[in-house]
Amino acid sequence: MDKILVTGGLGFIGSHTVVELQNSGYEVIIIDDLSNSSFDVLHRISTITGITPKFEQIDLKNKAKVIDFFKRNKDLKGVIHFAASKAVGESTEQPLMYYENNINTLVYVLQELKNSNHTNFIFSSSCTVYGQADELPITEKAPVKIAESPYGNTKQIGEEIIQDVCRVNSNMNAIALRYFNPIGAHESASIGELPIGIPQNLVPFITQTAYGLRDKLSVFGDDYPTHDGTCIRDYIHVVDLAKAHVVALERLLNRKNKSNFETFNLGTGKGSSVLEVIKSFERVTGLTLNYTIAKRRSGDITAAYADTNKANMELGWQSHLSLDDAMASAWKWEMHIRKK
Ligand code: WQD
Repeated sequence: MDKILVTGGLGFIGSHTVVELQNSGYEVIIIDDLSNSSFDVLHRISTITGITPKFEQIDLKNKAKVIDFFKRNKDLKGVIHFAASKAVGESTEQPLMYYENNINTLVYVLQELKNSNHTNFIFSSSCTVYGQADELPITEKAPVKIAESPYGNTKQIGEEIIQDVCRVNSNMNAIALRYFNPIGAHESASIGELPIGIPQNLVPFITQTAYGLRDKLSVFGDDYPTHDGTCIRDYIHVVDLAKAHVVALERLLNRKNKSNFETFNLGTGKGSSVLEVIKSFERVTGLTLNYTIAKRRSGDITAAYADTNKANMELGWQSHLSLDDAMASAWKWEMHIRKK
């Protein structure tokens, strides 16, 4: 069995990707520092797949520990790198923590990869690199814009670092996957999004409000130039997203990549407004969500949704699950973790 390292593998997207890797017959070893995840996710993964992934709690900011890990794991066939801090707001308050945690760790992992032959590297990137794109839907050719936050900047810088490494190391093969908005949870409700504290993202705030943990949802602005005045995003089910990582990895393992650094947008290709997400939630749960219109959140862009042609035609992947599927799974997950 090909052995794959998943850094940040106990996190939201990481854990779903580990499940899909195991379902596809890969041996998985996870590195996670547990700063934004919990150890029991390992058990939750095994309840889905019947296989407990190998796990090492390592802070990738510790260069010596990274070197030691790769010395002990020379048989890796690929690396999927999720490990990073990802809260947009927090990154504006603590930029250095974000640059250290998201950039230094990437550099240390790449330094080990560069010296080895397992050089298949999948990078967790984000549509945030586009900022407010000039044209919609957004293709991979859309210009990368000045980042709106240090978090977004770490994704841009990360891609540039990988590209520079690939340019001088022809044995290095990398794909940057630019996620749109990942939402939902595995159908088993054994794994899902576990925001710490007050959720920054829309969907966990909706489910926590519906459950009674939050008084109401604030819709950040209804005066945007969109059909209903609220922002539009491309909400992609996390299971569809996880499957895309296996497809991308196999593209590299089978040397199907056209160059040794490629980028793919991962979205549904469909934009949904905040109000449409709320309506979807109410439709699939039969609940009425308590929300109010509030002022705009600074840094929000009006609209973003993916042009999925390159992912569909070149990568050979497309999303299958709908917004309703995602909202129903998010609600099932919320009830499961609150044991309702
Ligand atoms: C979506 C929409 C809000 C909360 C960010 C990052 C992206 C990724 C996902 C890491 C916006 C509105 C939200 C609320 C609201 N991060 N909203 N009330 O900002 O599109 O993307 O998170 O992987 O890289 O950029 O996602 O879920 O925060 O917001 O009205 O309480 O919901 O204004 O229009 P966003 P989000």
